[in-house]
Amino acid sequence: MKDINIALIGVGTIGKGVVETISSNGQLIADRTGVNLVLRGVCDRDKEALASVDDDAALIKTSSASELIARDDIDIVIELIGGVNPAKEIVLSALRGGKHVVTANKALLSNSWEEIFAAASDSGTYINFEASVGGAIPVIRAIKEGFVANKIKTIYGILNGTTNFILTKMAAEGMPFKEALAIAQEKGIAERNPELDVSGKDSAHKLSILSMLAFGRVISNDEVYTEGISGVSPIDIACAAKWGYSIKLLAIAKNSPSGLQLRVHPTLVPSSHILANVRGEDNAISMRGDLVGESLLYGKGAGARPTASSVVSDVIDIARRVAFYGKKNPAPYNVVHDRSRKGIVPMEDITISYYLRFSVTDRPGVLARIASMLADNGISIASVSQEERKEGQTVPVIILTHKAREGDLRKAIAKIDDFDLVKGRTVVIRREE
Ligand code: HSE
Repeated sequence: MKDINIALIGVGTIGKGVVETISSNGQLIADRTGVNLVLRGVCDRDKEALASVDDDAALIKTSSASELIARDDIDIVIELIGGVNPAKEIVLSALRGGKHVVTANKALLSNSWEEIFAAASDSGTYINFEASVGGAIPVIRAIKEGFVANKIKTIYGILNGTTNFILTKMAAEGMPFKEALAIAQEKGIAERNPELDVSGKDSAHKLSILSMLAFGRVISNDEVYTEGISGVSPIDIACAAKWGYSIKLLAIAKNSPSGLQLRVHPTLVPSSHILANVRGEDNAISMRGDLVGESLLYGKGAGARPTASSVVSDVIDIARRVAFYGKKNPAPYNVVHDRSRKGIVPMEDITISYYLRFSVTDRPGVLARIASMLADNGISIASVSQEERKEGQTVPVIILTHKAREGDLRKAIAKIDDFDLVKGRTVVIRREE
């Protein structure tokens, strides 16, 4: 049995989950894998967090990450403090100092991918990051290992539990966004500051990590078009349902002949599609590869125990390599391997169908003017419905379009929103079929 010494930086919710997992399942892990995970040190600025870890004669408790990771007896550093700084400095100094790293930090990876992977490659160290996307779901491993022989064509992901919980609640109870968000916060699903989640940025960070691995090129966060869910109303969810669609915050990556499409936005998904049936806080990723066809990975995207499961799995993966094959990584995975040098397709150039909700004054000719402006911009209507009849008052008119170029749609909507009889901004939600 080989001992592998671990330093844990960040004893928050997930960190505590990792400590508990090593303590409760360490023997099982050792029996299965032949490595004994030894928690050698824990680091946190918060004294109470440090105190929450059971004392052990061999365990170092410190508020200094640099001192802990500089120790010769540390093999693997687990970074669980989140955010870009100071996590970046910690991860880079660990890698440069020859320590292997496990992190769940999607903001850091999607922000500083090249620097971090260069540091790992230069020092022959391993960096694993399964928990950065999809919590317990082994999606990183699926792309790097299970599907490694495939050309990945598309990724559709529900990558954020908070927003999926909110949209599920809105759909089930006709509840407005703010009320559903408040419930998510009460239940501890949403963070106290839920900005990253509801704005779609958390999903965008995760999509850029998956896309980098799947498509073999560096993708920065700002290359992912991102829209959050705060503009989705119960009426849109109800109208979409009448037409056989659910509204989900999808993270979408497509490898098309004209380039990569990378986008996160509320999306109408056919209610019969498997992703429409991913409810509550759960996450799911549907991937299409040239060999495997469509595959779905589904599970818990957050929470202490599910996320700790992935973190500890990453630790075990490195621990076994280090214990049985040597301290250095002899064959780093070529993250950047794309030979096609495809660019990112600008949003204006994507072709997709739309759900449009206009708020109009119910007068003869309004619909004809809207339809004519859409037609002038090459946009063909698939279905129309007016939800109420209140002559002279504002009513919602819903239009589903056939596929159109986003740039043309934007031009048409800007002009329609200037019509006197159109009140407020038109709601535009993209539709995947
Ligand atoms: N806040 C994220 C979510 C989990 O709601 O899915 C951590 O990535």
